[in-house]
Amino acid sequence: MNPHLKLPVTRIKRETSDSITIYFDASGKIDSFFPGQFLTLILPFDGRGGVRRSYSICTTPDQLPEIGVCVKRVDNGLVSNLLNDNAKEGQQYEIIEPYGQFSLNHKITLMPTLVLIGAGSGITPLMSILKTALRHPSQPKVVLLYGNRDEDNIIFRDELAALQQSSADRFRLIHTLTKPINPSFSQQTGRIDSSKVTALLELPEVLQDANVNFYVCGPEGMMHTAVETLEKSGIPRARLHKESFYTAPKTEITPSTEATSKSEEGAIPVTILFEGQQHEVLVEQGQGILEAALDHGLDLPYACQMGICGMCRAVKVTGKMVIGDQESLSEDEIAEGACLTCVGHPVGHGLVISYER
Ligand SMILES: Cc1cc2nc3c(=O)[nH]c(=O)nc-3n(C[C@H](O)[C@H](O)[C@H](O)COP(=O)(O)OP(=O)(O)OC[C@H]3O[C@@H](n4cnc5c(N)ncnc54)[C@H](O)[C@@H]3O)c2cc1C
Ligand code: FES
Repeated sequence: MNPHLKLPVTRIKRETSDSITIYFDASGKIDSFFPGQFLTLILPFDGRGGVRRSYSICTTPDQLPEIGVCVKRVDNGLVSNLLNDNAKEGQQYEIIEPYGQFSLNHKITLMPTLVLIGAGSGITPLMSILKTALRHPSQPKVVLLYGNRDEDNIIFRDELAALQQSSADRFRLIHTLTKPINPSFSQQTGRIDSSKVTALLELPEVLQDANVNFYVCGPEGMMHTAVETLEKSGIPRARLHKESFYTAPKTEITPSTEATSKSEEGAIPVTILFEGQQHEVLVEQGQGILEAALDHGLDLPYACQMGICGMCRAVKVTGKMVIGDQESLSEDEIAEGACLTCVGHPVGHGLVISYER
């Protein structure tokens, strides 16, 4: 299980009118993480397990023990607005330690050229990756294509400008604004689209390195366009990293009636192996395995409950299940038995899921 930590807020920095960076003191609690990973805050609202929201770390491992996350308001959003309105120095938050696969291996000796593509709050994990790469001894080149509405909405605007100045020979910063206040501010205007992504592939620093790695984070539409363009251009999956913050709900996949025989209608028993013990959990029709296990009192790891963050990842040992819409696992990982219990549903009896890592 991912340990829960209590971290005090050391300072708050307003980045834009609708976003703040919250810095925590992680002394003695977090001694490393991979740039690109996220923290999960647990807010003590009523209900099982509190309300959990993940926020990408925008600081770098060498800034520890200080660690920061940037939170942008979402319209009518519960936690993002609460934090923007109320987070204060000295408050303590319950936090799940850094997690996530969208990360840079900063311990490697030779870091390749990096192309970072982000929009809005999607800059947060990219900022940690960018700063780490610019300090890396192998001095990789970094390109950042960053989309926003206007100059005032650019999170980390001054910090990015300073990095560009101090690493002008290695860091190419390309802003694109849909509604610039001053038309001469950005080199590009409009949303991040296929032509802007294709143009990145023609840059000399990208052409010169056969091992360029791409990191994409931002709203769903932008991510889809960027990833599809890169895939069509032949960028292999291993060099293409993506992080979603949110996906609009789609039709939930539940086991088809053909897959579930008459005798198996109603609750289906699932065996869960967790922390050295075996648990029998009854999963109701249409219910996710994670939800049923939490109802059963199991303290399984989770955050988003939307198939995005990957924290509920487990292994299917035997039996059948369907996995609904998700952004975390590749087809290969699913073929090898990996599953997400938040969007996973049993098909028939005999399903055994293991959390033993
Ligand atoms: C791995 C991961 C990393 C993340 N990192 C960051 C980060 O660095 N900074 C950051 O600001 N957020 C980040 N998020 C998003 C964050 O976890 C919350 O989802 C977000 O703050 C909204 O929570 P809320 O409680 O305010 O909104 P909710 O009360 O959960 O939702 C309110 C309404 O907004 C919709 N909605 C929720 N989230 C979004 C969204 N992101 N875009 C559009 N509509 C939405 C919901 O469907 C609902 O209708 C990350 C999410 C994940 C999974
Ligand atoms: S809890 Fe986030 S993917 Fe399942």
